[in-house]
Amino acid sequence: MTTRTRILTGITTTGTPHLGNYAGAIRPAILASRDSNADSFYFLADYHALIKCDDPLRIQRSRLEIAATWLAGGLDVDRVTFYRQSDIPEIPELTWLLTCVAAKGLLNRAHAYKASVDKNVEAGEDPDAGITMGLYSYPVLMAADILMFNAHKVPVGRDQIQHVEMARDIGQRFNHLFGQGKEFFTMPEALIEESVATLPGLDGRKMSKSYDNTIPLFSSAKDMKDAISRIVTDSRAPGEAKDPDNSHLFTLFQAFATPAQSAEFRSELLQGLGWGEAKNRLFQLLDNELGESRERYHQLIERPADLEDILQLGAKKARAVATPFLNELREAVGLRSFVSQVQVAASTKKKAAKAARFVSFREDDGSFRFRLLAADGEQLLLSRHFADGKTAGQVTKQLQAGQPLDVRSDELSFSVWVDDECVADSPTFADGAARDAAIDALRVALTPAQD
Ligand code: TRP
Repeated sequence: MTTRTRILTGITTTGTPHLGNYAGAIRPAILASRDSNADSFYFLADYHALIKCDDPLRIQRSRLEIAATWLAGGLDVDRVTFYRQSDIPEIPELTWLLTCVAAKGLLNRAHAYKASVDKNVEAGEDPDAGITMGLYSYPVLMAADILMFNAHKVPVGRDQIQHVEMARDIGQRFNHLFGQGKEFFTMPEALIEESVATLPGLDGRKMSKSYDNTIPLFSSAKDMKDAISRIVTDSRAPGEAKDPDNSHLFTLFQAFATPAQSAEFRSELLQGLGWGEAKNRLFQLLDNELGESRERYHQLIERPADLEDILQLGAKKARAVATPFLNELREAVGLRSFVSQVQVAASTKKKAAKAARFVSFREDDGSFRFRLLAADGEQLLLSRHFADGKTAGQVTKQLQAGQPLDVRSDELSFSVWVDDECVADSPTFADGAARDAAIDALRVALTPAQD
């Protein structure tokens, strides 16, 4: 059996996807998820969205729109694990475990945080003015996203490479501190798709919400047409030859066309196709490519309850991985159940000299047992086998309850009985005197302290 490559990426839910997001991230991710070797985890990074946005309506709207966009774009949720970050409580829990091993100095170096500090300093403000702990800890939350599912590859934009490297750093440190030779976390790698189009926007700069130069994706055909009409071109008149290689309109066309369509468009531009006509061609192409998805998108948006169901199923799939893994990690750092672990029975009420302790453990066959150790570590008793930890716990409680102890001596050993059942045995002694001394020691050890 070959192990599949786990590919994981998150989408921050603060905006409405535009054409640039589609060509640069959504479309390639959906295509990649169809590879039979890929085990894809795609999620809405809505906890991350809270860092940048304090408008609840916008957060909610964006989550819905992004979910609908991915599904309308052809994401197959039977094949991939598609979920909301905020539906996985294990992620903030892991974030804390990682926060406790992440070096503050590492996070001081995060680009996003540093940029904010630089801006403040430039403006003569306090360096940390307006900077939340959310922004500061952003890379730790992202590390938890990635490490929680042991992703191998993390497709991201260049601005996120540092964050993936930090996830490696933090994961490695956790492995080193708590793994005891075991590698809990897989080391993730950022995946930068060189071949993927970075689309130019209306003005020729990179298409980005912050430049206000985007072409909407699924809002409506009219919105798309209006935006296309605002694409900046040179002033060559119809009939004059255009230069496709210096036209971002052509670049946009190319990102959605077959090579044959692109070749034809190129030759038409060289032959003097007017810009108005060229914009029509681009609109026709996009409408052909995206019209059906747009319709699916609107159907999905109108049925938020269905979207909710889909994401709940995704959360269930994700948690089937996250819950047991987090339990393992909790164990590793010492957040363990008191059952089947070292129990210090001697309460603070007892005199230190008498402090004997019960140590519970589990046998390979699954049964529960305990030892009673004297203060000096010598074994006083070894219990019989109990089917469950609860029964074993009850017996240790009864032994400490201050009831007269039912001790039955054998030749060179003794046993302890509760309710006419043998619950524990002593070690074997050299002679009867040693045996009797041990019985005395046991009685002392189990005598409750006087208040
Ligand atoms: N920070 C990423 C961005 O802004 C989004 C994100 C959050 C992410 N968690 C992630 C990406 C985990 C990849 C893996 O683009």
